Amino acid sequence: MATPGQKVVLITGCSSGIGLRIAVLLAKDEKRRYHVIATMRDLKKKEKLVEAAGDAYGKTLSLLTLDVCNDESVKQCINSVKDRHIDILINNAGIGLVGPVESFSMDEMKQVFETNFFGVIRMIKEVMPDMKKRKSGHIIVISSVMGLQGVVFNDVYAASKFAMEGFCESLAVQLLKFNVIMSMIEPGPVHTEFEMKMIADVSKKEYPGADPETVNYFKNVYLPSSVDIFETLGQTPDDIARCTKKVIEADSPRFRNLTNPLYTPIVALKYADETGGLSVHAFYHMLFNLGGLMHLSMKAMQCLTCGCLRSRSISPN
Ligand SMILES: NC(=O)c1ccc[n+]([C@@H]2O[C@H](COP(=O)([O-])OP(=O)(O)OC[C@H]3O[C@@H](n4cnc5c(N)ncnc54)[C@H](OP(=O)(O)O)[C@@H]3O)[C@@H](O)[C@H]2O)c1
Repeated sequence: MATPGQKVVLITGCSSGIGLRIAVLLAKDEKRRYHVIATMRDLKKKEKLVEAAGDAYGKTLSLLTLDVCNDESVKQCINSVKDRHIDILINNAGIGLVGPVESFSMDEMKQVFETNFFGVIRMIKEVMPDMKKRKSGHIIVISSVMGLQGVVFNDVYAASKFAMEGFCESLAVQLLKFNVIMSMIEPGPVHTEFEMKMIADVSKKEYPGADPETVNYFKNVYLPSSVDIFETLGQTPDDIARCTKKVIEADSPRFRNLTNPLYTPIVALKYADETGGLSVHAFYHMLFNLGGLMHLSMKAMQCLTCGCLRSRSISPN
């Protein structure tokens, strides 16, 4: 249970990756400023988190079951928190979907929105009214750079994050009137199970419904570039956890927080040309005409930087 003066932080999707590392970082805060309620949809997956939390488990970190896709689960979880008092809500749970859109069933695509979009709204609807009454609170959403710039073959995932950005951008204005702050965290690629699930998924799938030319572009042009980008520019879940802690602890937390400064020019490109042509054509050339060159430049970047560029990232350090 939280002690007086401690902020209660509830995080979704803590069985792995970014959610797990945020939970551990906040629970191990030297000044013990946080009581973390780390939630996951299946508590059988708690071992990795419990092990990483060490002594903090049972003291500044407790566990609850929560499936963001289930109304009852969300209600039960929030009702079981003392006085339903949550100071900081971190919406982290999310799933990916990558590949030719023709090969996905409508149900697969709806599941992405059910988790990444409606899952967050379900959480906000349950927690926000108490925050508004108390005139204090901070709602954080782990969005993505793909919530600001679409990426080929990530159409539905990017759409779910764009939807989230639009929802939060709208709500943030109203919340400010109630002294409730909203912040988006927008990572680029991060080395988590997300990436591993994507690679495992791709090797199993046949992509029925997509023509051979599209499958060829996906498997032999997009995927190698994507792996290069992950290897060269990827951040760690700890980087994202540090960014999130910085946002929580800022005197005036920013609404948008790109965690990887190497992505700032990509997002800027979009706003530099209101016709949209510049970014669509830049991405087209990067993928289809400069694929080989990009592979070489990524490899060169890896050799030259040995991780130094990563340590220059704005937010984590
Ligand atoms: N990795 C990246 O490159 C990257 C980049 C930008 C943004 N993000 C975002 O970061 C967030 C965390 O992803 P990650 O990279 O840490 O991936 P991850 O390791 O796969 O973690 C995703 C977490 O979400 C949970 N989850 C999925 N569906 C859920 C549901 N219905 N209810 C509750 N929890 C659910 C998973 O639980 P289970 O173990 O039960 O499946 C897991 O704990 C996501 O929102 C993702 O979109 C990731």
